[in-house]
Amino acid sequence: MCKKIVIAIDGPAASGKSSVAKNLAEKLGFTYVDTGAMYRAITYLAIRKNIVDDVDAVIDLVKNIKIELKFENGLTRVFINGEEVTEHIRTPEVNAKVSEVSRIPEVRQELVKIQRKMGENGNLVAEGRDTTTVVFPNADLKIYLTADLDERATRRHLEYQEKGNNVSFDEVKENLKKRDTIDSQRKVSPLSKAEDAYELDTTDLTIEQEIENIIKKVEEIKAKKEMQN
Ligand code: DC
Repeated sequence: MCKKIVIAIDGPAASGKSSVAKNLAEKLGFTYVDTGAMYRAITYLAIRKNIVDDVDAVIDLVKNIKIELKFENGLTRVFINGEEVTEHIRTPEVNAKVSEVSRIPEVRQELVKIQRKMGENGNLVAEGRDTTTVVFPNADLKIYLTADLDERATRRHLEYQEKGNNVSFDEVKENLKKRDTIDSQRKVSPLSKAEDAYELDTTDLTIEQEIENIIKKVEEIKAKKEMQN
């Protein structure tokens, strides 16, 4: 039996991680772990309960809920205590608060436990900010995805427009900039490029080119693993 393969992808907001990770997971038949969706789900619930600025209450919340991810037909469905929250976690309101919630160390500890558990049984693709450095430091393939801020803002703005969310380009860009700063400067598990990560700048690449690039690397890893068996 070939040993399982773990692919970890990190990078700043809207760098294309989700599209790449989803696509890879579907093509390879791997489990997809969208770690950002978990931080978003906690943030959404904290906003709904009106406790998002109360760190102790958020910690209490994360310790007492059950979060589940289900990857179906190219979509990550997110459930908290059995209630589906998928539709609510990618709004400007959640975007405005998610970096603050995700810098709470206790929140990270709880979510990292769940993420590692999802990786116990088989091949997987995980993506986020610390999957290459903290969650899966021994991943077989580590990728750091980047893209220009303007390109990232354009992609995210388009996503909002498609959903009928009326946010200006400048607002989107400002939010990305702010999140990048918080995510990469926080004390616990900041976004950073792992030394052994392969850096891929997606500014001028199509998703197909990105995937082709990564699949080649996965094939090399598979071949190496088979030789070792
Ligand atoms: O990838 P995303 O935009 O859905 O992530 C939302 C936020 O969650 C991001 O701004 C920071 C946080 N996050 C994190 O701190 N660690 C991760 N592994 C994934 C996301």
